[in-house]
Amino acid sequence: MKEAFKSVFGDYKDYIFIAIALLFYAIGVTLFLLPYQITTGGVTGIASLIFYATGFEIQNTYLIINAILLVLAIRIVGWKFCIKTIYGVGVVTIYLWLAQRLVEDPVTGELPRLVGDQSFMAVVLGAILEGIALGISFAHNGSTGGTDIIAAIVNKYKDVSLGHIMMIIDCLIISSCYFIFHDWEKIVFGFTALIISGLTLDHVMYSTRQSVQFFIFSRNYSKIASKLNEMGFGVTVLDGTGWYTHTERKVIVLIARKRQSNRIFSYIKSIDPYAFVSMNNCQGVYGEGFDVMKVKLKQKPTLVFATNNENKLSEVRAMLGRKYEIRSLKDIGCDVEIPETADTFEGNARLKVDFVKKYYGFDCFADDSGLQVTALGGEPGVLSARYAGDHDSDANNDKLLLNLKDKKDRSARFVTVIALEYKGKTYSFEGSVDGRIIEERRGEGGFGYDPVFVPDGYDKTFAELGDDVKNKISHRAEAVKKLCDFLEST
Ligand code: IMP
Repeated sequence: MKEAFKSVFGDYKDYIFIAIALLFYAIGVTLFLLPYQITTGGVTGIASLIFYATGFEIQNTYLIINAILLVLAIRIVGWKFCIKTIYGVGVVTIYLWLAQRLVEDPVTGELPRLVGDQSFMAVVLGAILEGIALGISFAHNGSTGGTDIIAAIVNKYKDVSLGHIMMIIDCLIISSCYFIFHDWEKIVFGFTALIISGLTLDHVMYSTRQSVQFFIFSRNYSKIASKLNEMGFGVTVLDGTGWYTHTERKVIVLIARKRQSNRIFSYIKSIDPYAFVSMNNCQGVYGEGFDVMKVKLKQKPTLVFATNNENKLSEVRAMLGRKYEIRSLKDIGCDVEIPETADTFEGNARLKVDFVKKYYGFDCFADDSGLQVTALGGEPGVLSARYAGDHDSDANNDKLLLNLKDKKDRSARFVTVIALEYKGKTYSFEGSVDGRIIEERRGEGGFGYDPVFVPDGYDKTFAELGDDVKNKISHRAEAVKKLCDFLEST
């Protein structure tokens, strides 16, 4: 039951901390920012502007804007991602309403000015309370909606950091208070509040997440390491050498949250009061139990290769895989054998890309290839895959060798034509490699006619030369190179 709750809602303690933290938020806004007509950023900023201009209570605008954003977010990113935001928005709305009812003048409805005419003092106090509240709430994975919701929605589609855009929006919100008060001081106070609350927030987040690294040198290292392990800390023991005595020493390395350091010291001291210990602040700790590395890996652009032929796929992935993510027909959910009814390689390649575009909507590329043998008038050509049996390489090779039995001219050419469907146009790229057909199969690698084809300049078949060589000199390699040059040039 507890686990099921946790998997959907997260840790219940987070909700308690968020509720307590947001109390400070409501106090800061109600007691120090609203009575002094200070505008900060975000949805609260917009809501307070409307309050100053019309008297429409801040929590109502705050709730309406966030509700609209939340409806969008639930549709786009799912309600599971929005639970803590819904909770945060609900709590802030109730607190703001309650705080105003508690402190307002029952007759005039005015909010008290607790620090008299000292507006700057109000700015500092209000912003610090806001920063502390948001810091604690964020540290417990909380959110008060607004920009967080927009970020979640935008990040679903685009991998961009919204920091700068949000900063510009905040500046616009704060600056617009000029149209209500015609007072530059209010704008300066608004920016001051934004900066102070931002700095406070960073400080709170930093101190709750601050991590430390211990180096522990002790003859009783194994007892200390086991004890720390038992108490739930991950421990690594390194080999070291005490240089004065030239004896082997073990060094315990341990990374933990700063708030856990007293516990760690007491475990060490209870086992070895003379242990030599160093403790350093860590700038950042990333990995299990700590933070997630925030760098976004550059995503490779994706290309759909209209084939389910594993051999062709692995050759093309070997050639293009470093630059592009190659997806096969299966990867896009297409299991059908696309009919190859044209009488040229180019025609067949175009049929495949047209089919994928028409039924699956993807721009893609496809290859049609085959072997043209001079003494057989260019056969098997476009029928290479079905020369003797449908995709039966053994039967195809047998038939080829039989048909060439008494022929002196054994020259042949592999041809590949790649068709590319790209932004409403179809392009084609051709590659070929000349060689000869030998008398019997040699080699285990490759596929199709590889065991009987020796490319010019070599004395081994494609099946013997292996993928590394084949992928540099083959008909497919030449066509793929042209495709790649084209993609890079566009
Ligand atoms: P496609 O799927 O119509 O292009 O069929 C091409 C057929 O030509 C394959 O089934 C193979 O028999 C043959 N083929 C094409 N490329 C190669 C290659 O690189 N090595 C060996 N046989 C190939």
